[in-house]
Amino acid sequence: MIESPIGVFDSGIGGLSVLQSLQLALPAEHFVYWADSGHAPYGEKSDLFVRQRSLAIADHLIRQHHIKALVVACNTATAAAIHALRQQHPHLIIVGVEPALKPALKISQTGHIGVIGTRGTLGSEKFHRLLSSLQGHAHFTVQACKGLALAIEQSTDTASGNQASQRITQLLESYTGEMGQFGQGPGQIDTLVLGCTHYVFAQNELQHVLGSKIHLVSTGEPVARQTRRLLEAASLLREGPGPQALSARISLLSNGDLIGLQAAATRWLGLPPSNCQRADSHV
Ligand code: DGL
Repeated sequence: MIESPIGVFDSGIGGLSVLQSLQLALPAEHFVYWADSGHAPYGEKSDLFVRQRSLAIADHLIRQHHIKALVVACNTATAAAIHALRQQHPHLIIVGVEPALKPALKISQTGHIGVIGTRGTLGSEKFHRLLSSLQGHAHFTVQACKGLALAIEQSTDTASGNQASQRITQLLESYTGEMGQFGQGPGQIDTLVLGCTHYVFAQNELQHVLGSKIHLVSTGEPVARQTRRLLEAASLLREGPGPQALSARISLLSNGDLIGLQAAATRWLGLPPSNCQRADSHV
């Protein structure tokens, strides 16, 4: 079981931002990543749909790849399905992601924190519970960004990459414009929580729109640390024989645009296109 891979999934390429942190924190582990791009974006689908997709992907990763742990590298799927996944697989290590409000509290100087994410995540009960638990600690401004994850997904396509990047900037200008003033002054938002794993790949555009002094907070590193802790506690952590080439440790699957996943994997993880394969379309 120690030799088994860790399964990671997202609605598309966004979870690669979590995989970046996972492979650094777990240098001897193998990973199988499922990009559910054929069904993206999740953020604008029903909870039931996202739950069904999450359960089907988990079943497949367990049956076909014998995973020893599952990382739900998607805020929307975590909000809609983590409970059902844990019920269905009580013995599997399952780690989810949620908008990093608590880490943002430690960083913000003005006490005004912005949170961006999908409608699915920010409208979920799970997020509302998290937000209410922190009321009084800071002022949170929450903004759902319809269309942003999709624009980021499409930005990997080199043919329309430039257009997609412009679209990302336009969307960011419009959504952050609705949130109020960003800056370091009293009452201004100085910290922005990226509550969707796709948004990590729009960091350059975000800093361009908001200025380089605004803190952007994502969840990759804490999720990787938590995964390591749980594997260690279960004596399932693979340690030797030292770091192997990344291309020998990661296998990526997509049921959508394979070229898009290949471009993203090369750009963000330095992986060759041959690490990406078409996923079983029956899942
Ligand atoms: N990357 C996902 C998240 O963290 C979902 C984006 C989407 O498919 O809408 O929420």
